[in-house]
Amino acid sequence: MEANSDIHGLYNLKPDERVDKLKGAGLTEQDRAALLGGGLTMEAADRMIENVIGFFKLPLGVATNFRVNGLDRLIPMVIEEPSVVAAASNAAGIARAHGGFIAKADPPVMIGQLQIVDTADATESMKMVLEKKQALIKECNALIPTLVDLGGGVRDIEARAIDTGRGRMLILHLLVDCRDAMGANTVNTVVETMTPRFVELTGGRARLRIISNYAVKRIARARGVFDRKLVGDDVIEGILDASDFAANDVYRAVTHNKGIMNGISAVALSLSNDTRAIEAGAHAYASRSGRYAPLTDWRKDGDGNLVGEIELPLAVATVGGAVNVNPISKIALKLLGVRTSVELAEVMAAVGLAQNFAALRALAAEGIQKGHMKLHARDLAVSAGAKPDEVDALARKLVETRVDFDNAKKLLEELRHKGSE
Ligand code: MEV
Repeated sequence: MEANSDIHGLYNLKPDERVDKLKGAGLTEQDRAALLGGGLTMEAADRMIENVIGFFKLPLGVATNFRVNGLDRLIPMVIEEPSVVAAASNAAGIARAHGGFIAKADPPVMIGQLQIVDTADATESMKMVLEKKQALIKECNALIPTLVDLGGGVRDIEARAIDTGRGRMLILHLLVDCRDAMGANTVNTVVETMTPRFVELTGGRARLRIISNYAVKRIARARGVFDRKLVGDDVIEGILDASDFAANDVYRAVTHNKGIMNGISAVALSLSNDTRAIEAGAHAYASRSGRYAPLTDWRKDGDGNLVGEIELPLAVATVGGAVNVNPISKIALKLLGVRTSVELAEVMAAVGLAQNFAALRALAAEGIQKGHMKLHARDLAVSAGAKPDEVDALARKLVETRVDFDNAKKLLEELRHKGSE
């Protein structure tokens, strides 16, 4: 379902009022209750990992204003860091003036690796596999009829030999279209089950049989235009300088990409997707030229508007794993309104691009700390004991003076004292 994402003033509402504002996304009373206090049950948590002793809560926020491939999208984000949700919403609002983001993701193909050692002749073994490729693909697909029925399955088999300190190894790649799953379970099962067949063919010994998180067959790309009148010519120049800085300096490139992953990992976490897999893949992709580089590219178009592009592997899922176990992830998926993992990857690429724009814009203009400090001041006000109707005034005073806990305590006392006079 497409819910309007052009929503203003969410910031000024209370959490329950915000949920009510998002009713257009098809939230039910049950969803509302889960969002505002429910969530994962102890029973489910206890089945999910080992030695469970409780829950670790993080806030779920919603970024607004996103339009991707002509559709409005509400973006669920789970993150502990202030400013990220606001920054994404703000950037998406600017991109919206030019129709929002255009994004395109590859089909959801993952790579399963099989390591074979001790072959008499790895090149010969490679040939044996490749000669029988079509028959082997058929055998693989016979193991996963449900996935094949859904339109997925093993698409190809690749082989190469690598020279290591422990001799030549034959490395086989099974390319599996996992449809809307991340794919680890399916891929690992197919590779493990097929191993005896490959060993028989190649004459070696099988070692590792596991998915690769370097999901280079599953690349997502997004593009957005940020109007020069909304951004300002000087800030655009600053962003271009920042982009070139990152392209030529690894210290900066890592931070640049970290900002991108602020958005992508926050969406991934809201959907109980594997953030470590996504991050490992993204950073490896950033190094594909042999030098760690930014995942985004910024330039000016003929009218002086800022144009940004992002490209990275995104092995993301709308089904399987914990997505269907955590009720909050199911609601996050409903909010997003995506139907497939491909659509999800496209939206997430757009979020990464928006997040990068927002960070570079803040850095090129007022500096990142100002915005951070405003939000940090609100957190401090709450920690210092401010009641809801005192938070705004105290946060304002903190920003005007000094944003720290002792100051918050002192100013709160002063505020209350003045109020009682
Ligand atoms: C902070 O979480 C992310 C930034 O450092 C990203 C960047 O510097 O581009 C602001």
